[in-house]
Amino acid sequence: MEIKTFGVVGAGQMGAGIAQVAAVSGLNVIMHDIDEQLVQKGFKNITRLLEKSVDKGKMSPGDKDAALARIKATTRLQDMEAADYVVEAASERQDIKFAIFRDLDSFCPAHAILASNTSSIPIGRIAAQTKRQDKVAGMHFMNPVPVMKLVEVIRGLATSDDTFRATWDLALRFGKTPAEANDYPGFISNRVLMPMINEAIYCLYHGVGTREDIDTVMKLGMNHPMGPLALADLIGLDTCLAIMETLYHGFSDSKYRPCPLLRRYVETGWLGRKTGRGFYEYS
Ligand code: CAA
Repeated sequence: MEIKTFGVVGAGQMGAGIAQVAAVSGLNVIMHDIDEQLVQKGFKNITRLLEKSVDKGKMSPGDKDAALARIKATTRLQDMEAADYVVEAASERQDIKFAIFRDLDSFCPAHAILASNTSSIPIGRIAAQTKRQDKVAGMHFMNPVPVMKLVEVIRGLATSDDTFRATWDLALRFGKTPAEANDYPGFISNRVLMPMINEAIYCLYHGVGTREDIDTVMKLGMNHPMGPLALADLIGLDTCLAIMETLYHGFSDSKYRPCPLLRRYVETGWLGRKTGRGFYEYS
């Protein structure tokens, strides 16, 4: 099946990033969010990043304009009826994802593949909301999407080889390196990353170190590009908590219990960069 039109549900930091790499790769993109302001904010972010690429001489102004012209921004999920492949990149909440997949299943053509950018929710659980479980896979991008090389491709129990291959090939088309993960909570990426971030938050909670010292140890001692607390702020503390909850409940294992300090930050609305306050302050 040839993929010409690519849908993205969610125009937040992940959704807009995915729409950007898809449009730059030459696909027609339908980018959806629930209200006009959100979808326009996503489009503005894409415009800003592509303009930066032009300023750096990495892209011609003509290619930038052509990529932007390929993106149709919409608040009508029904518009996905024109899509051959849709990636859902909504909030990391199971109820939201379930509802979106049920709607996509009813709006999208029978041949369309439906993927989720979920960071941790098992794909089989999401696929079971549809009548096309063979055409559902995980396509998990990393933040910031235009920069990070990896796409984790998740194969649910019912995912067909054709669906898996189409997802893998799309990742290559986007200039990414795909890696395969089987369908368990958190897959590979967040099974490994998020307990490390959670443990860094426990270090802050227990007073083992200040936020700066914890991040410096991991940056300079382990050569990570950024410290785990700064990374949590980039990912979003609500997303970090949601992933820990999925691991904790998914494995029924106390080793994944979310740090109470993480929960307090989320309850206070300190969600990281996107709200201007997380473990650090952002202007
Ligand atoms: N969007 C687009 N481009 C961005 C960007 C963003 N948000 N942030 C930085 N960049 C670009 C910069 O423009 C710059 O591009 P050029 O090389 O063309 O100039 C390049 O990235 C490097 O940026 P900086 O020089 O400003 O800063 P840096 O070298 O410290 O890199 C970083 C920034 C790429 C974010 C780096 O710190 C990094 O790799 N951090 C770790 C990120 C990470 O681990 N991501 C995965 C999170 S887990 C996840 O996403 C999955 C999940 O399920 C939770």
